[in-house]
Amino acid sequence: SAMAGEAVVREELGSLHGIPLYKCFIEGWPQVEAFQARPDDLLIATYPKSGTTWLSEILDMIYHDGDVEKCRRDAIFNRVPFLEMKAPKILSGIELLEKTPSPRLVKTHLPVQLLPTSFRDKDCKVIYMARNPKDVVISYYYFYQMAKIHPDPGTLGEFLETFMAGKVAYGSWYEHVQGWWEKKQEKQLLYLFYEDMKKDPRQEVQKILRFLGKQLAEETVARILHHTSFQEMRKNPAANYETMPTALMDHSLSPFLRKGISGDWKNHFTVAQNELFDQHYQEHMVGSDLHFQMEV
Ligand code: A3P
Repeated sequence: SAMAGEAVVREELGSLHGIPLYKCFIEGWPQVEAFQARPDDLLIATYPKSGTTWLSEILDMIYHDGDVEKCRRDAIFNRVPFLEMKAPKILSGIELLEKTPSPRLVKTHLPVQLLPTSFRDKDCKVIYMARNPKDVVISYYYFYQMAKIHPDPGTLGEFLETFMAGKVAYGSWYEHVQGWWEKKQEKQLLYLFYEDMKKDPRQEVQKILRFLGKQLAEETVARILHHTSFQEMRKNPAANYETMPTALMDHSLSPFLRKGISGDWKNHFTVAQNELFDQHYQEHMVGSDLHFQMEV
């Protein structure tokens, strides 16, 4: 594989139980599968590019009662360890979690069927956030370009095909959002939408607080909302991924916090691409009571 410093660059994806994934993550899979969750771990689960970092910052702020300085203590990827992450010469998600004091926030992009069993055994709370697939695929396209762990995405047209075929990292968006949606019946899971968070972040934060059984003063909630706004997060080095080595993420190609809106796909899809995508979407979501807002 091509190396830039210690970073794995533009390598083809491998396959983990049929899910396309970075080969270095697959190497670390035995440790992830054997992960011992703690009952007070809170799992943040998402398909990539669905607002993971936003939700993570909100939760870290809630966990620290809206203390902005405490939430600058480290980069978001260290404050909220990424469960299945593994790369050469850096601490894996598992190693980072072992060093993290409880109560821990844990990030994962795993599809529900691959979640380590320990989270179920310990009955951990889960917050899932979903985003409409048209904005996800555009965000993912830019992310493939700037985050060099990904293969070359090709043209947008090619990438749309790859995405619809479920051949991007973490596989089919359709299976991911539906798999976690079905999980809602079984356990303590809060299912959120990026579009709702854009429309009314205060209401969504209140939902999270109720789910966690936590109360915060009105001014604390206001501080959390301000600190986790796109504008604030974008200029916050602890939230915007700028401290990642350039060999891994090149923000000059596209910033990690890129646009932060719903409906940006309209600036990218051709009419023909949109028709193809709509048809594919309908075929794959037929019979589901899970609905997405393509813009807000
Ligand atoms: P765009 O590429 O559409 O801008 P993830 O954290 O799951 O990788 O998701 C990244 C996407 O969430 C990016 O979308 C990013 O801009 C957006 N995002 C991050 N923080 C946000 C915020 N505070 N408000 C709105 N969108 C945010």
